[in-house]
Amino acid sequence: MAAVVLVGAQWGDEGKGKITDFLAERADCVVRYQGGSNAGHTVEVKQEKFMLHLVPSGILYPQTLCVVGNGVVVDMGKLIEELDGLQKRGIDTSNLRISLRAPVVMPYHKKIDELEDRDSNIGTTKRGIGPTYADKINRIGFRIGDLLEEPDIFEARFKAQVAYKNRIINEIYNEEGFDYKALLDKLMSEVAVLKPYLADTSYLIYNCIKEGKKVLFEGAQGTLLDIDHGTYPYVTSSHPIAGGACVGSGIGPTSIGRVLGVAKAYTTRVGEGPFPTELNDEIGQTLRERGAEFGTTTGRPRRCGWLDAVILRYAARVNGLTDLAITKLDVLDSFPVLKICVAYRYKGSLLQEFPDNIGILSKCEPEYMELPGWQQDLSGVTEYEQLPDKAKRYIETIEELSGVKQAIVAVGPKREQTIVTQRLYT
Ligand code: GDP
Ligand code: IMO
Ligand code: MG
Repeated sequence: MAAVVLVGAQWGDEGKGKITDFLAERADCVVRYQGGSNAGHTVEVKQEKFMLHLVPSGILYPQTLCVVGNGVVVDMGKLIEELDGLQKRGIDTSNLRISLRAPVVMPYHKKIDELEDRDSNIGTTKRGIGPTYADKINRIGFRIGDLLEEPDIFEARFKAQVAYKNRIINEIYNEEGFDYKALLDKLMSEVAVLKPYLADTSYLIYNCIKEGKKVLFEGAQGTLLDIDHGTYPYVTSSHPIAGGACVGSGIGPTSIGRVLGVAKAYTTRVGEGPFPTELNDEIGQTLRERGAEFGTTTGRPRRCGWLDAVILRYAARVNGLTDLAITKLDVLDSFPVLKICVAYRYKGSLLQEFPDNIGILSKCEPEYMELPGWQQDLSGVTEYEQLPDKAKRYIETIEELSGVKQAIVAVGPKREQTIVTQRLYT
């Protein structure tokens, strides 16, 4: 049984948590492979709502092995808080495993994130994500496993690193730095709590795949937030795209069978950066209200706009999408007319492909096609055949424009508000 990778096809918040939870019922193992507590994945079950940041969205099924892979940057304090919150609500977290190779988000990373974002204005989540990945690449970071073995070696490196970070914080930003000993004590008490969960996760995932078990990789963020393939510099610092699943978990590409792109039926983005179909009008406001478009992690209002098929075609290409999950179709219920962006107009010419230059993208105007709205409540629909013809036409248009067939359509936040037309796992 080949593994499935689930990725966000837009700028994040596409409903990945909901779809992961839905698929997790049949999966043996769910793996997060990148990002950190910048992610906010919402899962609604009956009257309960769970907001997951670092814990994979398979955690609500006690039989599912949930893995935080080496590509995820781990804020141990936040993870402990999240696990406590789940346990208090009766969720069994004993099936969680965390990679010993995962980089640790330090308090100085969060401080530097906050300070740097004042100048760069990316609008980050201030969770220390960029500075932690920067240290990893710069080979001055720390992995969780480093905290467990040979503490004297760790302590010497850590002391030097805190001194270095304090110089940046003091001299550039004129703010107070950190006491290395206090940080060290905090880290040691946190790693002691997490110790039972730590493992060589590449080996665990490899064995699951070898035994023919069903493995689902849960992407965080989305294609356009990818550090290489997104709208740089208005991106996150990891690889949300499907290729990231291999690097961020330690398995080979030959293990992946399908790639499911999760796409909202319209477009949203949090933070700064170009957004061609953004609507700063009443329609945008209606999408925000009907879709409850406020960030799960930071509470910021999400910017909203019409669906952009140029983005979906691009996502299909860079992820190798085999299937689509189209979410939040119900949010479009009230509109008499729906628009889909089919190309961009830039300086008099029509661009069919997503531009690889941020300056060009900033000046692109959307070229729209119009479709009639269905103006009917979809929230109770459970079978594809029950959808009104106009809703089917909207979905089929997305399939044609993106070149990818839908396998799942979501019409509400709850598990049962999910229409499955193609089983990803048999
Ligand atoms: P993620 O980051 O991709 O997991 O998405 P978020 O959880 O940040 O945001 C998606 C929001 O939409 C959450 O509040 C979900 O509960 C909600 N949601 C997911 N699917 C649907 C849907 O089909 N319809 C509606 N109305 N809400 C949905
Ligand atoms: P999920 O997994 C939407 C955005 C931030 C900012 C940029 C960089 O819930 O889809 P970072 O803190 O990562 O350095 O911020 O990326 N961003 C997200 N936007 N959904 C997310 O995650 C996001 N994670 C980061 O708003 O623009
Ligand atoms: Mg989210």
